[in-house]
Amino acid sequence: DLYNFRQIAADTKVHGVIGKPIGHSKSPHLYNSAFRALGFNGIYLPLLVDSVANFINTYSSPDFVGYSYTIPHKEDGLRCCDEIDPIAKEIGAISCMIRRPTDGKLMGYNVDYLGAIAAIEEALRASNGAPASGSPLAGKLFVVMGAGGAGKALAYGGYEKGARVVVANRTYAKAKELAGKVGGQAITFDELKDFHPEEGMILANTTSVGMKPRIEDSPLPKEALKHYSLVFDAIYTPKWTRLLQEAKECGAIVVFGTEMFINQAFVQVERFTGLPAPKQLMRDVLARNT
Ligand code: ATR
Repeated sequence: DLYNFRQIAADTKVHGVIGKPIGHSKSPHLYNSAFRALGFNGIYLPLLVDSVANFINTYSSPDFVGYSYTIPHKEDGLRCCDEIDPIAKEIGAISCMIRRPTDGKLMGYNVDYLGAIAAIEEALRASNGAPASGSPLAGKLFVVMGAGGAGKALAYGGYEKGARVVVANRTYAKAKELAGKVGGQAITFDELKDFHPEEGMILANTTSVGMKPRIEDSPLPKEALKHYSLVFDAIYTPKWTRLLQEAKECGAIVVFGTEMFINQAFVQVERFTGLPAPKQLMRDVLARNT
């Protein structure tokens, strides 16, 4: 039951994840299991695609209703939408595309940031100091390392939740541009080492520093981590990056990159099916397949 399909019928709705490579993707297993548990008449395929435009033009049938986008097609996907969500437009990339049933138009969204932000909020709520209502990120100093696609997504997400955003990037010009858009402050990586205007800040790493195979690297020295109450790393191979290990040793709450993935999968399942995601089942499926 590799893909855990329900029976395919003439009216089964087709979904998939568009990327290259795609063989490693855990999404088909995860989404098909969710569809099955929900009794939703849909399938979800791994789609190895060279040209997003060719794919979209070829599979234009109304039954092809929903796609997730992964590397390297998030920007190309955006160019193939009929309508684009404002945040996806700002980020310059989509992670999810849905065919609107009323007119067949392809709608593009970026839900990556919703997953990361939801994971950070959940961890803050579970810890003590979080307010009972509103976002626990509101008013917090939220430092985003990196200003690529994931950095933009996190910065917009933090901004939407009322956090005071600081963008730290190796290339300062990119930090400045992004910070300007979210009413935040831009600093360089070097400046970040000594940046602690207050204690209890939130840190999100979206750079590739520390990703397998360079697992000895960390984007920030351990001494700097003591000023943070929570550290999130978008990297999920390895799960325990050096950054997260050292943050833990400094007493911070740590949020794993895998949480970003599972939370954005919940969002997409809900958008594809219109039903609440079977969260525990999806966590179990992912745990069994990692
Ligand atoms: P993604 O879409 O995953 O965000 P990306 O757009 O390639 O990937 O962005 C990579 C980010 O990691 C950038 O912010 C990059 O910094 P630059 O803008 O200066 O290139 C950052 N990055 C990559 N390698 C880095 C390194 N060795 N040190 C610091 N930052 C690094």
